[in-house]
Amino acid sequence: MNAIILGTGADELGFNGYEKKLGSNHYGEYEYYQKDGIVIIPRHKMGHSVAPHLINYRANIHALKDLEVKNVVSIYAVGSISNKLLPSEFGIISDHVDFTHSRINTLFDGTFYPLDHVNAENQFSEKLKSCALALNKEIKRDLIYVTTQGPRLETKAEIRMFNSLGFDCVGMTLSTEADLINELEINNLAIAYSINMAAGLARSGLEFIGKEKELSVAKKVFELALEVLNNV
Ligand code: HPA
Repeated sequence: MNAIILGTGADELGFNGYEKKLGSNHYGEYEYYQKDGIVIIPRHKMGHSVAPHLINYRANIHALKDLEVKNVVSIYAVGSISNKLLPSEFGIISDHVDFTHSRINTLFDGTFYPLDHVNAENQFSEKLKSCALALNKEIKRDLIYVTTQGPRLETKAEIRMFNSLGFDCVGMTLSTEADLINELEINNLAIAYSINMAAGLARSGLEFIGKEKELSVAKKVFELALEVLNNV
């Protein structure tokens, strides 16, 4: 089985022909959509009803293991910090920094899995990345994603700091998910698409690309994810 995790934009994509299913594990309940060998997990559930800091990340990510997923493409809407990823562009995340707090980001805490310090040096799959690069010439690469707690957007000073630290884009979910996917040793390709310049970076103030453009880039990334998973 292969999987796609979607965030903002999941509702609009619609998942034609996918069957809605519910599952549960030690960590709680999860919602997913299945067709052929693909499962889709909308991380905020459909209707975008769960805020980033309230997502049950362990239930969602352990679902991948429950469903015997080998490869996952995780997709993120982000704000742009550097010019390596501008609004309406999409690209491959190579690493991340976690500025969240009060989130449980491990399974290896001695409860259902033993206490362990899992290697986080290489969290993303080279094989899936090569596949995406071979299939798409538009896609950017080598992006560093910083995860903020949310749900509020960042202050200008926070973005200035992130910029000076060399981060390329900002969102509220990747680090928690990537850490858990890595712990379960599932191949992960993270693709971000930008829907705005981050706080303080646009002369005219915070401005999003708009629903129509968001949906068109989300669709493109979703179709690429399906192509990657069909070719891997
Ligand atoms: N900040 C955090 N998360 C986001 C942003 C942003 O500017 N845009 C989309 N997700």
